[in-house]
Amino acid sequence: MKIPKHIAIIMDGNGRWAKAKGLARTEGHREGARSVEVITKYANELGVKYLTLYAFSTENWARPKTEILALMTLLEETLDKFLNNPDKDIKVIFSSSRKKLPKKVLTKMEQVEKESAKNKGLILNLAINYGSRQEILEAVLKLQEKGLKPTKANFEKCLYNNLPDPDLIIRTSGEQRLSNFLLWQAAYSEFYFTKTLWPDFREKAFLDAIKDFSARQRRFGA
Ligand code: FPP
Repeated sequence: MKIPKHIAIIMDGNGRWAKAKGLARTEGHREGARSVEVITKYANELGVKYLTLYAFSTENWARPKTEILALMTLLEETLDKFLNNPDKDIKVIFSSSRKKLPKKVLTKMEQVEKESAKNKGLILNLAINYGSRQEILEAVLKLQEKGLKPTKANFEKCLYNNLPDPDLIIRTSGEQRLSNFLLWQAAYSEFYFTKTLWPDFREKAFLDAIKDFSARQRRFGA
């Protein structure tokens, strides 16, 4: 089986998962955060090098305040788990516009980034307060400020992170769109859509996606 070097996931369906069980939306996010832990650990075991997770978009600020607060709290709690991870294996980085995020979350992000910087396992890239158009605009500005020539290589150095492009982009819950995620980086990515809701997306579902990817022929336009 070919293991993709970089997998990116649009984690969708937490709300529907909760609704189907007669629970509050925040309970769906809580179970979704559990999937984040499970999938990160499993991806590391499988030898995936980079895992990018779309955790909060620049458009998500339009959600009710209570839901935003619950998501921010979950985020902090999950980051704490990575901080206290005894394996010291996973390196956490962020694709984030740092502008609107609460100070507490920003401090925690910086702490995790610093303390996990030397870890040698999977690189977990969390897209928090992320929007691809915003990322591209910020990169154009940086390019100008630095007086760099607008080449592909220079432009990519100005993105939030300069990771290899995702080989596989997964979206859960049956929706089939990119929702302002990695517009630049997805130029030659393979897409995988599954009806499984994110809180139910665990090892087997992840392996199914990789198997599907593994059977594909990639030509990169050649
Ligand atoms: C989409 O479900 C999910 C989100 C907007 C947030 C994703 C967040 C998590 C999985 C939990 C916290 C993240 C981390 C990294 C700890 P939705 O609410 O849009 O679901 P719906 O479309 O069914 O309403």
